[in-house]
Amino acid sequence: MKIYIINGPNLNMLGIREPDTYGTLGYDALLEMIKAHCEKKGVEPVFYQSNHEGDLVDKIQEAYFKGADAIVINPGAYTHTSIALLDAVKAVGLPTVEVHISKVEERESFRQVSYIREACVKTISGKGFNGYLEAVDFLLEAKND
Ligand code: DQA
Repeated sequence: MKIYIINGPNLNMLGIREPDTYGTLGYDALLEMIKAHCEKKGVEPVFYQSNHEGDLVDKIQEAYFKGADAIVINPGAYTHTSIALLDAVKAVGLPTVEVHISKVEERESFRQVSYIREACVKTISGKGFNGYLEAVDFLLEAKND
């Protein structure tokens, strides 16, 4: 099973940005954690991070054209603004899990909107880096059902 793990703006700043909210571990540590988990589960992860909306759209489309089975995406702030990312996930029709490191439901009102959510099979928020691992497990189980 091949899963695209896509991270949006400012997630490359993990460990530096707002540690009280996002923790002290960096983006590289996140990738290591996901990689180790995927190895155990026999999943092939494809990692991507960008601060640019159109690049994220391109990567979602690439997941389709390169035969990915599923997508895990943390769209960062584009969660709350981007119809283009919603449309991209709808366009490719791949099972997609939306992940947020922080508990967005308990934060500012502008974070209560998620455009991408309606195209996703699940949303995981507030579980830190473990949310990505849970997303992989969910997609794996869904595929084996
Ligand atoms: C985030 C939550 C978003 O509101 C924020 O803009 C981010 C990160 C999270 O992982 O908790 O950049 O998606």
